[in-house]
Amino acid sequence: MSKNQKTLAIIFGGTGDLAYRKLYPALYKLYQNDYLNKNFAVIGTARRSWTDDYYREVIVDSIKELKSSDESASEFASHFYYLSHNINDAENYRELLDLAKQLDEKYKLEGNRLFYLSVSPKLFGTIATQLKSGNLLSDTGYNRLLIEKPFGTNLKESNLLDREILKTFTEDEIYRIDHYLGKEMIQAIPMLRFGNPLLKKIWNHHYISNIQVTLAEDIGVEDRGGYYEQSGALRDMVQNHILQVVSLMLMDEPDCYDSQCVCREKITVLKELVSINEDNISEHIVRGQYIESADYPELMAYRSENEVSTDSEVETFVAGKFLSKNKNWKDTPLYFRTGKRMKGKNTQIDIVFKKDLPLLFDDLELSKNVLSIHIGPEEGISFKMNDKKAGMLLDSEAIRLKYKEEGKIPDDYERLLLNALEANKTSFVHAEEVSESWKHIDAIRAAWKDNKNPIEFYPVMTNGPKKAFELLEKNGHEWIWD
Ligand code: BG6
Repeated sequence: MSKNQKTLAIIFGGTGDLAYRKLYPALYKLYQNDYLNKNFAVIGTARRSWTDDYYREVIVDSIKELKSSDESASEFASHFYYLSHNINDAENYRELLDLAKQLDEKYKLEGNRLFYLSVSPKLFGTIATQLKSGNLLSDTGYNRLLIEKPFGTNLKESNLLDREILKTFTEDEIYRIDHYLGKEMIQAIPMLRFGNPLLKKIWNHHYISNIQVTLAEDIGVEDRGGYYEQSGALRDMVQNHILQVVSLMLMDEPDCYDSQCVCREKITVLKELVSINEDNISEHIVRGQYIESADYPELMAYRSENEVSTDSEVETFVAGKFLSKNKNWKDTPLYFRTGKRMKGKNTQIDIVFKKDLPLLFDDLELSKNVLSIHIGPEEGISFKMNDKKAGMLLDSEAIRLKYKEEGKIPDDYERLLLNALEANKTSFVHAEEVSESWKHIDAIRAAWKDNKNPIEFYPVMTNGPKKAFELLEKNGHEWIWD
């Protein structure tokens, strides 16, 4: 892997929360590990009128817990420049171009440019157009655009957004971020599936009873009530993170491990998912919203949160069942659930194996084999199997073999930024994946309109409404993490 990436990163939204909490620390880690050293510069832009000095103080503050020394932090911060910017004003792009040229020269960046839009997606089109007309696209180096969800609020808007951006950047130059794809154990899925002959052989409906994807959070909507009222859990988590995980779990083995081959297989998964509509919605989806609980008097109901309507019908929880038309997955459901104010913060995938062969010890209570991929907060893998209980008698007990990742695990953004610098697109989302995902989400939302799938309420700090359990019980299954 080549070190010392030469680049000028231009961050729109440089004064924002994401930049402070995620991007600057991620850049610092890359810097500490020599992926960025002398030849990089960052221009932060936003409306506020900050000076370079003030901006650099903010940068140093954002890495206070990571810095190896004060000198290293201030040397790192010295690569940062600030421009106060109105995204609609062509004059501002002229200033940006002047500064970009100077920094190119000063840091020998070879004209490489990375444009990170950490702003509302409504502004993506305008910025892309202005970058083009303001000649900010380099002729000598690369131009890469990094953007993050929400990519519209439905298929139509998302297509429109793409059309606008594609006037300036090619699909190859667009890096759509889903931070879940930067997580260590999500990155590990292809290796687990295709690097182990045993698992590769049994990764299909003959051996797997069901797959469960849980993205649970114990926090509420915090100060994002206004945003959440517009998005809800379906658009906030399922359209992107959950469908990405589903794609990685169900995809056929790619011909090779590069972005094109992987992306092709992921798109096929999305196309092969049985679509959920008004006729089948009640068998497939449960939507919920958190309410107060006597056990947690300090926690409020969603409807009492700031900027949330008191009769809001927005879902803070969704559970569902996907089926695939792919012959490998015949009748094997993939269940998912995600929600706010659930019992704990836990992201986990459970692969439940079938127990339908006659077994020698069937008269003892044998458990199903379960392989679990622990994505966070702890990273690792565990496998539940039956063992003989130690002692003179012949008895069985379920044991859990557990492997915990102990090494230095890169942060999501650290990995994704490095991947973008290296033009490795395997962990970014293609336009077609976004549109195929929206088709499923739009269909579910359309079916919700006629209220065939009403909101079910669940007390805070529980794992969702009763119906989310019944969804599995109907098929003789049960949630592994509870
Ligand atoms: C974001 C959602 O995409 O993912 C948030 O907008 C959610 O609502 C977050 O809290 C969860 O991410 P993580 O990495 O903490 O599991």
